[in-house]
Amino acid sequence: ARKIIIDTDPGQDDAIAILLALASPELEVLGLTAVAGNVPLALTEKNARKICELAGRSETKVFAGASRPLIRQLVTAEYVHGKTGLDGPSLPDPKMELQPQHAVDFVVETLMREEPGTVTLCPLGPLTNIALALIREPKIAPRIKEIVLMGGGFFEGGNVTPAAEFNIYVDPHAADVVLKSGVPIVIMPLDVTHKALTTRGRIDAFRKLGTKVGDATVALLEFFERFDEEKYGTDGGPLHDPCVIAYLLKPELFKGRTVNVEVETASELAMGMTVIDWWGVTNRAKNATVMRYIDADGFFALLVERLGRL
Ligand code: BDR
Ligand code: CA
Repeated sequence: ARKIIIDTDPGQDDAIAILLALASPELEVLGLTAVAGNVPLALTEKNARKICELAGRSETKVFAGASRPLIRQLVTAEYVHGKTGLDGPSLPDPKMELQPQHAVDFVVETLMREEPGTVTLCPLGPLTNIALALIREPKIAPRIKEIVLMGGGFFEGGNVTPAAEFNIYVDPHAADVVLKSGVPIVIMPLDVTHKALTTRGRIDAFRKLGTKVGDATVALLEFFERFDEEKYGTDGGPLHDPCVIAYLLKPELFKGRTVNVEVETASELAMGMTVIDWWGVTNRAKNATVMRYIDADGFFALLVERLGRL
């Protein structure tokens, strides 16, 4: 199985991504590292443990990481995810314990221990933990197989400012460190995730599972989608983070290009913008594969089939 570390700020869509990973035998989840993002760290690490228990996988290791971005103040998104970050289903407080080790130490130690080129990082929130690990121990960079992350957007614009997507906006300096690390990177931007909408028919497919996980998924998605439905009148909300895990399982669901990506860290107007050289108009080195297209029906079919196994 492919070894992965999921770095996350749950978040309803993070929760579905974690469920998808835990349900998939092709993946070995070495650990979940929590970061401050959608809600503060004390909630994201607790939410990560709640989801492991929902999946019946309380042996999964969960670590707490950075409580704030590298330089900027923390910006959260309770207006999307609710006060707990995981509003919707009523999930019990977790019994499993948080690991005592710091998330950044866990990432460094794991990468230095495992065979080089065997561990993939899957960031689903602000990139603070990953940047800190790269700064703390630069020797990890050539040992990372790949970083597959959700963040950014270009043709689609931003979702927190006109220019910036939330994960990159919250810690643009961390994103800059990651993009300049030389590690192979795959990006799932808003251009992809805004096409993965939780329409009524797609939510009904989870309801039909008739399982605890299926019902919790429906409650998570119904809470999550109300923000976009009320604000933009769409049928469903964008299921961002599971795109990262789906890519590891079925890369053929996505199409994109390998290009240069830089992040804006200076201008207040465009702070956190991912400037994607889609048309190759610069000679800056290509540092990431940016996805732009998704087979959304295939993506949801995969999700329903996998979550049905839990
Ligand atoms: C990203 O921001 C968070 O609110 C979601 O969990 C996702 O990771 C989308 O911009
Ligand atoms: Ca997230």
